[in-house]
Amino acid sequence: MLVCILTLIIGYVWADGVSFQRPLSVCPPGWLAWQDACYILLPDRVNWWQAKTVCDRPGSSLVVPDSQEEQDFIWREMRSRMEMIVGSSTNKLELWIGCKDVDNTGQLTCLGVQDRPQFTNWNGGNPHHHQDQDCIRMAEKYGGNWGDSGCQSKKFASCEMRVSHRSYCLQADADGRFTPQCLLNHEIKNLTAAGVIGCGQACWAEPRCHSFNLWQKGDDKKVCQLNNASSIEADPAFLKKVESCNVFDL
Ligand SMILES: *[C@@H]1O[C@H](CO)[C@@H](O)[C@H](O)[C@H]1NC(C)=O
Ligand SMILES: *[C@@H]1O[C@H](CO)[C@@H](O)[C@H](O)[C@H]1NC(C)=O
Repeated sequence: MLVCILTLIIGYVWADGVSFQRPLSVCPPGWLAWQDACYILLPDRVNWWQAKTVCDRPGSSLVVPDSQEEQDFIWREMRSRMEMIVGSSTNKLELWIGCKDVDNTGQLTCLGVQDRPQFTNWNGGNPHHHQDQDCIRMAEKYGGNWGDSGCQSKKFASCEMRVSHRSYCLQADADGRFTPQCLLNHEIKNLTAAGVIGCGQACWAEPRCHSFNLWQKGDDKKVCQLNNASSIEADPAFLKKVESCNVFDL
């Protein structure tokens, strides 16, 4: 049994048969889970810049579909939610995505994507290469496919949050109890941190960090030890039962 702690909801999630390579995607209330990410529809229609700003939080940004499967998921789910808000009026069923056609060549620049996106989903006739149509949206009139549009016009938008990097997992026994164990001899450094969340964030911020040990020292002192391997990457010989110590994998 694997137990994952997701910083965003600060809770415990119990699951059977979930592997370390694929942390369970658990989303905060109101967010929809799909693969290793969470999605939400913003309740108001906003211009592209506002959508980008609202979605821009740690781990989250304006949605950028990078496969046909993700496109289909987003359009299916967000379309039905938009419809609940504005009815079936075709011209209002439009959803900003985090891509722009800045140089009006149809070569997109997308948030969080280096160079050009691998996946695009233009509707025939798009892009229009007009200077005042730099921002990209999915549209009902295109069956959810993409078209370019004026960035100042108000449309729905969806934020996407990748959760795989923000959940910390540890191995529990079949009855849900933890055997205290830690990964030794892989230390990058020690820090003081209040708990799993703080230590996890420190590990996440350190590129070499793949797991961390949380040592309980006395009643209220914890030592956060960042490790350069995860507990499954490392030689099992270094995974030792230690009282008051638990290893968490990123
Ligand atoms: C990980 O850290 C240990 C010491 O803490 C070091 O001996 C080892 O070479 C490091 N491994 C990698 C892959 O950096
Ligand atoms: C880091 O903390 C652990 C647990 O208290 C300890 O075993 C280890 O020696 C410490 N490392 C350093 C460099 O102080």
